[in-house]
Amino acid sequence: MQILKNISLKNYNTFGIDVKASSFIEINAISDLKSVVDNQSDFFILSGGSNLLLTKNIEKLVIYLNIKGIEIVKQEDNDVFIKVNAGENWHEFVLWCIDRNFGGLENMSLIPGNVGTSPIQNIGAYGVELKDSMHELEALEIATGNLVTFSNESCSFGYRNSVFKNELKGKYIITSVTFKLTRETHILNSSYGAIQSELEKEKIKNPTIKDISNAVIAIRQSKLPDPKEIGNSGSFFKNPVILKHQFRQLQHKYPEVPHYITSDTEVKVPAGWLVEQCGFKGKRFGDAGVHKKQALVLVNYDNATGQEIFELSKRIQKTVFEKFEIQLEAEVNIL
Ligand code: EPU
Repeated sequence: MQILKNISLKNYNTFGIDVKASSFIEINAISDLKSVVDNQSDFFILSGGSNLLLTKNIEKLVIYLNIKGIEIVKQEDNDVFIKVNAGENWHEFVLWCIDRNFGGLENMSLIPGNVGTSPIQNIGAYGVELKDSMHELEALEIATGNLVTFSNESCSFGYRNSVFKNELKGKYIITSVTFKLTRETHILNSSYGAIQSELEKEKIKNPTIKDISNAVIAIRQSKLPDPKEIGNSGSFFKNPVILKHQFRQLQHKYPEVPHYITSDTEVKVPAGWLVEQCGFKGKRFGDAGVHKKQALVLVNYDNATGQEIFELSKRIQKTVFEKFEIQLEAEVNIL
């Protein structure tokens, strides 16, 4: 373990923002994480850097969590339990599962980031969320240095939300996640419109988990920018959930508004649609911009600063609020 000084974080965040860490340490084992945390009071945990907008230099120790390892813990009837360390890349792990015919994660193919941060915002795509197949996780309690096990229920998962974004924020570092996946009989989730049409295009009638994964990869590649080519952090905002009566007024004015009914009283409206209606889709302001194929994704074309992207996000929030009286909330962590 070596503490490095004055390190650029450009290659450690998918937005590709060039800020510096005053000190930086890479961690490859839980025992090392424990000893660093025991001896430091102020630090910042960096993982895949895929849900992060860095607007300034980090003047504290950046702990780069890179603990690798995948282990099949047990197999029971149709279930397989797999423990994955925090530093494993999410998509590579999904492909590892598909290669072994372990089902449950295929709809979440190609999501950027690492396994360890996936529960924090309960990642999800195409009708499936992490909470649907997470069995439990282990996390280091910063105050005590103890490893604590959290069951699925104790994570209080919600839409892009968990206990780790709320009452336990900053108190734990997730070190591994155990998934409960299927081994033979899979529960396929192909009802999402875009998956259906992708399978039809490929003339697939009885899809396997690999077919679903390939369909999701094709859909994502068709509208979401590859962070290796254009810096981005996926959806920048959450899809807002509004009250039914407000939705009715919106629908009266814009009958075509896409929506999903989430409860008897609430409706979710796609933020991408709201942002597009405000004319931002495909717009570029210097090197900061709004992706041309998905208005929910802010992009760094080359050398945008985090501050420039942040200013753009505030401008979008303000315009959307003025037009629709809906407050967009950032999905990414802004630092
Ligand atoms: N839409 C527009 N204009 C746009 C973008 C979207 O009108 O520029 C409309 C589409 O017509 C569609 C609706 O919005 O009717 C939904 O669009 P899409 O299916 O692309 O999904 P989304 O709601 O924009 C969410 C997740 C994505 C996830 C997709 C698919 C959030 C914040 N985002 O996006 O997650 O991949 O569904 O399940 O919930 C991420 O979190 O980084 C992410 C990419």
